[in-house]
Amino acid sequence: MKKLTTKHFRNYKKPQGGVPLKMLTAYDYPTARLLNESAVDMILVGDSLGNVVLGYDTTIQVTIEEMLIFSKAVRRGAPDKFLVVDLPFGTYATKNIGIKNALRVFQETQCEAVKIEGGHKENCRLIETLTKSGVAVVGHIGLTPQSIHEQGGYYMHGQDNVSVKRLLQEAKDLQNAGAFCLVVECVNKELSKTITQALKIPTIGIGSGIETDGQVLVINDLLGLGDYLPPKFVKPIANLFQVKKDLIGKYLETLQ
Ligand code: KIV
Repeated sequence: MKKLTTKHFRNYKKPQGGVPLKMLTAYDYPTARLLNESAVDMILVGDSLGNVVLGYDTTIQVTIEEMLIFSKAVRRGAPDKFLVVDLPFGTYATKNIGIKNALRVFQETQCEAVKIEGGHKENCRLIETLTKSGVAVVGHIGLTPQSIHEQGGYYMHGQDNVSVKRLLQEAKDLQNAGAFCLVVECVNKELSKTITQALKIPTIGIGSGIETDGQVLVINDLLGLGDYLPPKFVKPIANLFQVKKDLIGKYLETLQ
């Protein structure tokens, strides 16, 4: 399977009833090996790493060094897939810091793109500079977990006129700044559809309905790898936590 590029993604709009862009997260080498052999279009090393792998309460604690270690492992495991890496909290708080850290992540992980949360003007200016320097960027609006305290918790976005107007503007600004696709997280489905129709670049939804051009999920939530309840919009396809627990229990019994 030929590796996809931004040329493929940038103009992808899902036709009515058509196939969405398929994105899943990965954090480790074995999962990356598996996804490398799958029909997934893009792999995201999300900073959800902090929640589902490192046991942090929020993504705010994730450091750039942690992102680098896990992203390099995924790159080694999935050389044939388009790889996106999240810039973690604080690493793009100003434009100059953002340029330095984005270039570091881009060079050291050999990913194809970095992802940045938030569509405000400062981020758009950063994205403009990065794309001019040759770094492909994925935008991310709606629920942006790095700003969870500033946003006031985990909830659906785009529920009132002010929020609708702001999100639509942010989506357009991110596209104009050069982002080649846009993650839309926990945005009400009517607004997700409006944003999707308003943009030339694809939207990739999570908890935002089915009208986006693509879908992304945290692979650990999808497979039931953790002993926690996944977000309400996820329908896990397995409970691998329990499966592994039972198998390990059975193995340990054989040692008695
Ligand atoms: O960190 C992450 O996994 C993400 C996805 C939920 C889009 O940003």
